Amino acid sequence: MFPVDAVRERFPALSVSDDGVERVYFDTPAGTQVPTDVIARTTRYFERQNANSGGYFSTSVETDELLESAHQAMADLIGAPSGEQVVFGQNMTSLTFAVSRSLAHRFEPGDEIILTRMDHDANVAPWLLMARDRGLNVRWLPFSRETFRFDLAELDRITTNRTRFAAINYASNALGTVNDVKSMCRVLADRDVTTYIDGVQLVPHRLADVVDLGCDFFVCSAYKFYGPHQGILWGKRDVLDELDPYKVRPADNRLPHRFETGTLSHEGIAGTLGAIEYLEWLADEVTPSSGDADRRTRLAAAMDASDRYEQVLCRQLVDGLTAIKGVTVHGITDPTEMHDRVPTVCITVDGAHPDEVARSLAAQNIFVWSGHYYAVEVVKHLGLDKAGGMVRIGLAHYHTAAEVDRCLEAVEAAASQG
Ligand SMILES: Cc1ncc(COP(=O)(O)O)c(C=O)c1O
Repeated sequence: MFPVDAVRERFPALSVSDDGVERVYFDTPAGTQVPTDVIARTTRYFERQNANSGGYFSTSVETDELLESAHQAMADLIGAPSGEQVVFGQNMTSLTFAVSRSLAHRFEPGDEIILTRMDHDANVAPWLLMARDRGLNVRWLPFSRETFRFDLAELDRITTNRTRFAAINYASNALGTVNDVKSMCRVLADRDVTTYIDGVQLVPHRLADVVDLGCDFFVCSAYKFYGPHQGILWGKRDVLDELDPYKVRPADNRLPHRFETGTLSHEGIAGTLGAIEYLEWLADEVTPSSGDADRRTRLAAAMDASDRYEQVLCRQLVDGLTAIKGVTVHGITDPTEMHDRVPTVCITVDGAHPDEVARSLAAQNIFVWSGHYYAVEVVKHLGLDKAGGMVRIGLAHYHTAAEVDRCLEAVEAAASQG
């Protein structure tokens, strides 16, 4: 059994209530709450270690040690062979804009890039701007409005001998679909296409393995996996080595520093290490004998237990929503296919604007998002842009069946007034 009570005790925010009404944080895909491990790491940094990097005095030495530990922990979380290829930055969006500037020089006018109708705009707009600046042509990969998945044959069809680059999301921040990125990368790598994978919505729910995926770049954000606001980029060593970074002249030209421009958010990186230490704690809870195993193995145990628990909750949510008259779920609903989605579930309610539904849930202290949440292509492709998008309900492993029930009742009440 998943130790949800012990997990919840570790997140101070989960016991906060407003006027006696407990909060239900179903705004998960926009950012998770943080455990005490993250708070302690961040506080400790400010209380005892706060300094710039590269000095001879204790706070600076400790800062450098901490940064190295965090790079290695992050590498273990995403299956990277070395912490040197892990780049910390402000957030996924800023890292992507920065690397797009370097990548742009590899392409010639008339070259083609592939973007998808399923991606968050952070994995679309930087590449559209790169295409504009360099005279590249954009080919769009749609998703099926019936299955909410990509078609590999379509990817193969739109890949030509001019295709040089593809940006693809691993898990959708709107539909919840987990894409078969490994097969997609194989198709693209065979044709020498550079792949940039947005793992922001996957990493909180599943164990990523950047080597197994066969991608060139992988990005994620710590605030989506129980950490602070902090972005992370991984790249294949030869690809990162070949790229010309936009950096100040005195900055270290070795990896990862050549891409870590300016002074980093040391406290954010400390907190990110805390989030990974929290997952290690979870590993010990779900597999008490895991203490001797290496960190990657323990993280795998934690994420596996988390995923199994989340799939049960997700099924409860999806089954409950599909049973409510007037509610449409825009994503995978087949109970046997829960492994193909993360527990991010978007709905529309007949006769009710998404903002209205979100507002009525907020009045009951149930936090959900409405609109497009920057998945502008998804909402347009579904034809929902004029209707105000969708209501997004997102779960994490600290949620309970009782919270899902509370949300279902609230949605049912909203639908009955729709
Ligand atoms: C799938 C996806 N990609 C990218 C981003 C952008 O991440 P960041 O806020 O770290 O720039 C988000 C944020 O919601 C997201 O959900």
